[in-house]
Amino acid sequence: MTKIRIAVQKSGRLNEDSLQILKDCGISIDNGKDQLKATARNFPLEVFYLRNGDIPQYLRDGVVDIAIIGENVLVEKGNDIAVAEKLNFSKCRVSLAVPKGVKYNSVKDFEGKKVATSYPNTVNEYLKSKGVTAELHIINGSVEIAPNIGLAYGICDIVSSGSTLFKNNLKEVEVILQSEAVLAVSPTISEERREILKKIQFRIQSVLQARQ
Ligand code: PRP
Ligand code: MG
Repeated sequence: MTKIRIAVQKSGRLNEDSLQILKDCGISIDNGKDQLKATARNFPLEVFYLRNGDIPQYLRDGVVDIAIIGENVLVEKGNDIAVAEKLNFSKCRVSLAVPKGVKYNSVKDFEGKKVATSYPNTVNEYLKSKGVTAELHIINGSVEIAPNIGLAYGICDIVSSGSTLFKNNLKEVEVILQSEAVLAVSPTISEERREILKKIQFRIQSVLQARQ
């Protein structure tokens, strides 16, 4: 029997809520946490646990058919990938921040400065739209430490509760985008699997409605 292949974040902030929404859809997955692949018991679905940043490419290549992923990752790496549903969890924003002590007037203040980020495309596009040229310093995690160690003037990263900014003595100065978890669809999904997707979407819509 044909199964739809869904990518879910392996570990991190989306993982738990992603599995919860599938569960609320009545789909039970044998949860071998160490396994990178699991099969649903009562629905034609296979789950692939993947790294967030790799998911857009897997969708593009058709290795998976759908994914639960943060919109922010799609904006950064998967502008070509369609969103079927917004999922109303894992809400965050992607923002620019600078040290609290910095006198900040406008985005022009970033002109010629170093910005540390894991979201180079997102920052570049934003700054370009504002006519600002900055030097990007790409790092994969703990971005907020960069200004404190003299690596950058400011940062661009995800802000959720704001506590990481606070702990690192930074202030959010520009919100580039708002993000939440979404159900994304591979551009190469087959017709047969699209039918299975429709069933999942129908269930997701009911779950989201019931959660309101
Ligand atoms: C993420 C993100 C921010 C922080 C935002 O980092 O990169 O640093 O969460 O959340 P907050 O506003 O609620 O503090 P994460 O802890 O996932 O670690 P990483 O940056 O090392 O990937
Ligand atoms: Mg972080």
